[in-house]
Amino acid sequence: MKLPFAEPYKIKMVETIRKSTKVQRQNWIEQAKFNLFNLRSEQVYIDLLTDSGTGAMSDLQWSAMMTGDESYAGASSYYNLKNAIKEITGFDYFLPTHQGRAAENVLFSVLVKEGDIVPGNSHFDTTKGHIEFRKARAIDCTIDQASDTSVFHPFKGNCDIDKLGKVLRSHPVDKISCIILTVTNNSSGGQPVSMGNIRETSVLAAKYGVKLIIDSARFAENAWFIQQREKGYSGKSIREIALEMFSYADGMTMSSKKDAIVNMGGFIGFRDEELFRKAAPFNIMFEGYLTYGGMSGRDMNALAQGLYEGTEAEYLGSRVGQVAYLGTRLKEYEIPVLEPFGGHAIFIDALKFFPQISREEFPAQTLAVEIYLEGGIRSVEIGTLLADRDPSTRQNRYPALELVRLTIPRRVFTNNHMDYTAAAIRNVFERRNDIHKGLKILKEVPIMRHFTVELERV
Ligand code: F0G
Repeated sequence: MKLPFAEPYKIKMVETIRKSTKVQRQNWIEQAKFNLFNLRSEQVYIDLLTDSGTGAMSDLQWSAMMTGDESYAGASSYYNLKNAIKEITGFDYFLPTHQGRAAENVLFSVLVKEGDIVPGNSHFDTTKGHIEFRKARAIDCTIDQASDTSVFHPFKGNCDIDKLGKVLRSHPVDKISCIILTVTNNSSGGQPVSMGNIRETSVLAAKYGVKLIIDSARFAENAWFIQQREKGYSGKSIREIALEMFSYADGMTMSSKKDAIVNMGGFIGFRDEELFRKAAPFNIMFEGYLTYGGMSGRDMNALAQGLYEGTEAEYLGSRVGQVAYLGTRLKEYEIPVLEPFGGHAIFIDALKFFPQISREEFPAQTLAVEIYLEGGIRSVEIGTLLADRDPSTRQNRYPALELVRLTIPRRVFTNNHMDYTAAAIRNVFERRNDIHKGLKILKEVPIMRHFTVELERV
């Protein structure tokens, strides 16, 4: 019998989490205006809001924090991080930032100007936010198969090369800021992008003289899928695969809060010195001096260590395996989930779960609220609330998919927590036909409304 992937670590420290009653949760969700971001963490039993910054650091990361060098300039921690970034990504130049969106802010200050377009696969919401804030447009060229939750495609995060080619042909080069490939493709369900697709995108980028940037938050999980699913990669290590992925890009933005398993941090990697030089003053203005940016020395040390731990095959096997474990339980209960399972989360298809609730009433948010009421589990809507309104028409944008994301933090929960979660969702599924109405908006802001929106039951 083939031995399964088991966690390559044991637990040294624990944190108490508490259950609550349904009556308590009913009150709390009303006080939170049916927005799960407004809940206090004590009001949540199993928090699957995000895998971002919620991972458990290792003993080696904590001990690296103790030896952090807090010098303003030229700290040893900066050089530790520089060496790790060079080894894992191949990039010679980098700027430290406090998180992923800060990396976007600094890099886009150089690359994106009013009237530009930024094509790629699906842009994450902060990425789109930073593009639209600069009065430019993000164009999603993800393959069509991504919008069918039941189609099996091994690389559903891929960019459609024909769509991308059309976009590039129909715009003057000086209006194209860059191409962004997000690996894994979070907005389409944590789906990986194949090496072949990264390579083809880079060929197209080079043909048009446009820079290719990789949004790398989950690059190691992406490398894992390439190793498992793509011809010619099963014999390569995760680090060899990651190096090849980055070899096709001119730069990368990184939210280290995901695959580098730290609670805060990010960076921008650059292939050439020129772009690094142009971005450096923005880093100094927005983040901090070049050798610390948005991070303290101890945080850079922990991040350097996390980059190594996050790219170990044994760890990735158990991590992606835990996500699939939850997906498999839900499938056994016939709950409509996006397949194949993503790297960091399981996504429930709310349009199939609640076909009776109209899209104007936010079925995915309604489902996320029901899952919280049932089991104290916090998930997140990846649907119409997140998609925001169209910047010009101000109408709701209805994305192809209306999903609830159950996002698994790294090295935090056990499979018992996954069983509990699956059971709670099964209970909601069993009473799904008793729920006829969704939610309506009371208050919203013009950009990234999902964080602060206030809702009430219809
Ligand atoms: N890019 C991707 C693909 C992301 O998923 C995120 C964050 C960011 C950029 C921004 O990074 O949070 O460090 O500023 N995603 C989190 C999530 C918030 O829940 O998916 P950040």
